[in-house]
Amino acid sequence: MIKLLSISALAALTLSCPAYASDTQALKQEAMTIAKQFAGTLKPQLVKAMKQGGPVHAIEVCAEQAPTIAQQLSQDTGWTIKRVSLKSRNAKTATPDAWEESVLKEFDKQQAKGVKVSKLTASNLQNGTFRFMKAQGVQGVCLTCHGNNIQPSVRQALRKHYPDDNATGYSLGQVRGALSLTKVLDNQ
Ligand code: HEC
Repeated sequence: MIKLLSISALAALTLSCPAYASDTQALKQEAMTIAKQFAGTLKPQLVKAMKQGGPVHAIEVCAEQAPTIAQQLSQDTGWTIKRVSLKSRNAKTATPDAWEESVLKEFDKQQAKGVKVSKLTASNLQNGTFRFMKAQGVQGVCLTCHGNNIQPSVRQALRKHYPDDNATGYSLGQVRGALSLTKVLDNQ
């Protein structure tokens, strides 16, 4: 009797959401690829700008390129791509919503326990919307603009572009923020 019940419950579940279980894995994979593409496009541009024109120039490149890359990738893939943080620099684009905030807090907890930031991801499927987050860790190169001892000229440039900047004071290996990707699924 119990067995029969559980089988029919399973059947009902399968009927109501046919594609969910098998697709989640594929969606995660797709999101992971896009996240890598984003980071793999932005970071080389950042490093190049730092080398060519120093950090003050790189701030301008970052301010312009980060949103452009996100927008281009969104257009190409149909996913919405954001960068979010508990201590945002660009409050307009990086302020997390409730789910993102809870995930970012969990990422911080995991990092404090010793989990590698590069391993931290989260996903969620609800009401026909799939969401994915991947943590971004603080590396050496990030400290110039997100660390503790920021050069006065860099500090000044940051203040000019981002008067409400909260994204300094980080140390190596912490969670700086996360990429947050959203896809609204068809036929929902
Ligand atoms: C040259 C200075 C500079 C360096 C170096 C730098 N950033 Fe940033 N970062 C910025 C600026 C400027 C923004 C705001 C960009 C915008 O307006 O979208 C930003 C924003 C971000 C955001 C988006 C969330 C927010 O707070 O607005 C994340 C995440 C981030 N940086 C992570 C990193 C990581 C990880 C590194 C190292 C790999 C790094 N940054 C290196 C200048 C820098």
